[in-house]
Amino acid sequence: MKWSDLFTSSIGKKFVMGLTGLFLISFLIVHVGINSCIFATIFNADDHGEMFNKAAHFMGSMVLIRIMEVGLFVGFFIHIIQGLVLTFQNRSKRKIGYNVQMGNKGSKWYSRSMGLLGTIILIFLIIHWNQFWIPSRFTGVDEINIDGKPVHDLFSLMKTTFAELWVVILYVVACISLAYHLLHGFQSAFRSLGLYNSKYLKLANGIGIAFSIIVPLLFALMPISMYLHWVE
Ligand code: HEM
Repeated sequence: MKWSDLFTSSIGKKFVMGLTGLFLISFLIVHVGINSCIFATIFNADDHGEMFNKAAHFMGSMVLIRIMEVGLFVGFFIHIIQGLVLTFQNRSKRKIGYNVQMGNKGSKWYSRSMGLLGTIILIFLIIHWNQFWIPSRFTGVDEINIDGKPVHDLFSLMKTTFAELWVVILYVVACISLAYHLLHGFQSAFRSLGLYNSKYLKLANGIGIAFSIIVPLLFALMPISMYLHWVE
């Protein structure tokens, strides 16, 4: 197999989708872990978002993380472009249907809607980056002093962002889309990466399902709990 086959052959494209998808999943683990620090305010009334602000500052100040951030955007870019290409190719091929009509029995609705789910997530991401990442890296975020050091007050930025109902609804819709996107993505990635008929497939699928539910649920609880003032 040549390098160019990764972007031209159908199996190569699926492999790239699986690999970039797994890389993006590792980002989600770190992202949900750090952001979940906002829930510390539920257990400690004196926290006021300090734990989250400290954790976000620690991550943002690590050179390795900054380098990985470039990789992250490249990963997103390849995953999105390749995903769009696959969606349009699948649609334009097979103009003449199969003789045996499978109806909806052959696949789940979300497996047939990866392009739509991915597009909802992409629209969410553009708004999300504009709300948090651009202020944090370029246009500026208010700072507070923690242990004598100036730190971005991303917790307050979250509170003002999630005070608007339409934003909360957008995030919840995006998280539901993410859950279904991940559900199919995991199964497809394991297959693209060659993990079928393996004795570990059941375990891998179980982990995939748990991840696809727990991570989007934690993300969705963030805007909801800020809007309802469970976290403040
Ligand atoms: C729903 C709850 C979420 C909240 C409250 C949240 C919050 C944040 C914040 C505060 C930042 C800026 C971090 C910084 O600059 O230090 C950020 C960046 C980012 N978020 Fe989210 N996020 C959420 C969900 C998601 C989801 C579901 C995705 C992906 C599907 C995502 C992808 C990103 C990316 C790619 C960045 C920029 C890269 C980075 O800063 O490392 N976020 N988010």
